[in-house]
Amino acid sequence: MCGIMGYIGPRDAAGIVLGGLECLEYRGYDSAGVALAEGHKIGISKCVGSVANLKAQLAKNALSGKMGIGHTRWATHGGVTRENAHPHVDPDGKVVLIHNGIVENFHELGEEFSKKGVRFASETDTEVAAFLISSLYKDDPLLAIREACARLRGSFAFVILFSDIDDRYYCVRKGPPLVLGAAAGEAFCASDVTALLPYTHDILFMEDDEIAELSTEGIALYGFDGTRKEARTKTVDWDASMTSKGMYPHFMLKEIEEQGSVLRKTLTGRIGNADEGGSGEESAGKGGIDLNAEFPFSEENARSFRRVHLVACGTSCHAAAVAGRLADKFTGLDVRVEAASEYRSGSVICDAQTLAIFVSQSGETADTLAAARQARAKGARCLAVTNAVNSSLARELGAVLELRAGPEIGVAATKTFMGQLAALTLLVLWIGKRKGNLSREKELRLTEELARLPMKLEKILGQGETLRKMAESYKDAFGFLFIGRGASHAIGMEGALKLKEISYVHAEAHAAGEMKHGPIAILDVHLPVVAIAPKDDLYEKTLSNIQEARARNAPIIAVASEGDEDIRRFSNDCFFVPGTENELTPFLTVVPLQLFAYHLASILGREIDRPRNLAKSVTVE
Ligand code: AGP
Repeated sequence: MCGIMGYIGPRDAAGIVLGGLECLEYRGYDSAGVALAEGHKIGISKCVGSVANLKAQLAKNALSGKMGIGHTRWATHGGVTRENAHPHVDPDGKVVLIHNGIVENFHELGEEFSKKGVRFASETDTEVAAFLISSLYKDDPLLAIREACARLRGSFAFVILFSDIDDRYYCVRKGPPLVLGAAAGEAFCASDVTALLPYTHDILFMEDDEIAELSTEGIALYGFDGTRKEARTKTVDWDASMTSKGMYPHFMLKEIEEQGSVLRKTLTGRIGNADEGGSGEESAGKGGIDLNAEFPFSEENARSFRRVHLVACGTSCHAAAVAGRLADKFTGLDVRVEAASEYRSGSVICDAQTLAIFVSQSGETADTLAAARQARAKGARCLAVTNAVNSSLARELGAVLELRAGPEIGVAATKTFMGQLAALTLLVLWIGKRKGNLSREKELRLTEELARLPMKLEKILGQGETLRKMAESYKDAFGFLFIGRGASHAIGMEGALKLKEISYVHAEAHAAGEMKHGPIAILDVHLPVVAIAPKDDLYEKTLSNIQEARARNAPIIAVASEGDEDIRRFSNDCFFVPGTENELTPFLTVVPLQLFAYHLASILGREIDRPRNLAKSVTVE
């Protein structure tokens, strides 16, 4: 949450910082601000609203400088006002600071300072942190930062300017992500690697409890104890063009349409090509799954697993829920799927016989990280399934299955959900295979069908106009009830989440069999029911639930399998997806729901890539 960008070098810092903020706006967009240093004079401009507002403000009152920092905010402490927007300056005017995270003891510190007569201009924890650093600063900025960090509790990524220093700025990480990059005579920082890609692909991912000094000489890295550390960098192979919308009106639509190619990338090298034979020893013969190179646990470890936990938040948790159904069927293990925020606060049985899988597109979600730390401390074998191989989750767990979806900018996750479905399906089947619960014949049927799915996805994606028209006819709906059974229930939850996130229309999802236990009471002619009813083992039961809803006059929108003529009779609108193996229907049924949500939000005139109250990466609890 919150986007941060910083620059020092020969170029105009304002343009670079504003460009970075635009790129990072998916992290927060309720207010924005920059500080530009021109010699010892620091100019600040901030405003409520988006980076576009800030740019307009700067067009009237330009600021310049060769060193600058900027922030786009997702409010935690203090309302959305200009005063609470970052950067913050301490009351003595010595320190200018931007912040992502929460300083938990800011009340306590604020009161201590107020008693000494300090008057703060904002309601934020950030201003208190700025004053703390300022009050400790004599002539050694590093020492002041270190002493301040020792007094601060909570999580924080800071970028700091000192008004008497015009050739360096400082970054601090304890919790929220910060990445650094250096090119000849320039040094950048940002919350996310996407903002640095136009300038460098050699990225330094700051660890917790580190302080960096950035100057035209490069990056000097220190621990909180003051020891100098090696400035290690990693090369990121994402391309800057991947972070542009191109011809699309929204990132979300672009990312939905990329799902066929995402699926191909996620599967590449992990399933044997049925025509060429499998690539790994395990998949000797044609086809088959091959995670040999990536599965981080030994044969012996894998045999000892008794439990598999799938833990995540939001959309990632829905992918985990789909995988959970598959794991029930193929692993023979005791399967638990849980939201990270719940998992971390319960007394979950979790030990060396537990395979704990943490699913996160960003790898920076605070609850997922906390849950993973807890499972690791209990001795579980932990694995990250993430799109960000250099994220905190991936680095801390050291065992990663990568999604390979490329950067996702839209706040509503779509293509990474597809990558998660693919990666988790392969993982679960791989475990099933090792456990002797997946027959060779079934393995081949599934992998051959997985290889065909991108084409089937593309067929669905070609029907965007049908879904736009469908959305148009439901634009006045009071809300939507999604129903499905088994993995289709998880897809219903994902469909409802997408709709809520970007259209702000109420939507809820229930297991279809639960409808009679309460939700059916809300049905009437104004509440459409979206039924996810592919032709699988549970189809007939779902069809009965559709009839029950129809009998209460609810309009029915069915997502069904091609060739299913029966369902037409009970539905007002049907969207047909190509037939597939029963276990793989989620890959196809989710796409019309994403497109339906997208078009409804577009018709309602919503800010699709920047939905209200949300941020892409939830780095605070
Ligand atoms: C998805 O559309 C949401 N933006 C949100 O639910 C998201 O999936 C959740 O915050 C988890 O994020 P992560 O995958 O980066 O951990």
